[in-house]
Amino acid sequence: MAIALILAAGRGERLGADRPKALVELGGRPLVQWSVDVLASMPAIEQIVVALPAGVQVPTGTIGVLGGAVRSESVRCALAAAEAGDPVVVQDAARPLTSVELVQATLAAVEHEGVDAAIAATPVTDTVKRADGEGVVTQTLDRAGLWTVQTPQVFRRAALERALDVPDDVLAQATDDAWLIERAGGRVVVVPAPPDNLKVTTALHLALAELLIARRKA
Ligand code: C5P
Repeated sequence: MAIALILAAGRGERLGADRPKALVELGGRPLVQWSVDVLASMPAIEQIVVALPAGVQVPTGTIGVLGGAVRSESVRCALAAAEAGDPVVVQDAARPLTSVELVQATLAAVEHEGVDAAIAATPVTDTVKRADGEGVVTQTLDRAGLWTVQTPQVFRRAALERALDVPDDVLAQATDDAWLIERAGGRVVVVPAPPDNLKVTTALHLALAELLIARRKA
């Protein structure tokens, strides 16, 4: 059976809210509750551990742990608190519009022979350039084959445990956990995600998420 780790321990300063981002309301529910509700509705997931900032109430039906200083450290803390269970679904609380279908597709992809991790992702549609410190363009990347990656990210537990067993400075460089698998030589596959799986970083994203929820209900 699978287990799920929800990462909700970020401060979310770019949102400019009066409370931790996990508790900011979206459609009448705290942001973190959206991921909890999706994952708790899935019979394939037997346990949910949530990494939270200090002083935040643990969502009902989940195990709460104090998050770490950086994102992957929060993953390490949450995984250490989880009982046996494999694979491991990692979900950012900052992506409240995740869905049962997307988690299922990602869980299915990690079952393929030789796959260590399967990650939700979207093909890049903009042209991507690199610029130096003065803003002068130094390179235009070939966007064919480029993806922006998201959560859910699903891992074989042994591969994730090995990947997280690195010095703190390496952990601090990881903007996603799949990178830790890649640098250890593991095999990571992308799973196409719907365009509404947005990350709430600023007030604009929160407003967009509200609109998307209203559209889902319509
Ligand atoms: O910082 P970033 O935007 O990449 O955060 C993505 C997710 O990781 C958010 O849901 C945030 O709450 C979580 N996070 C965490 N612990 C940290 C930093 C971020 O759980 N130390």
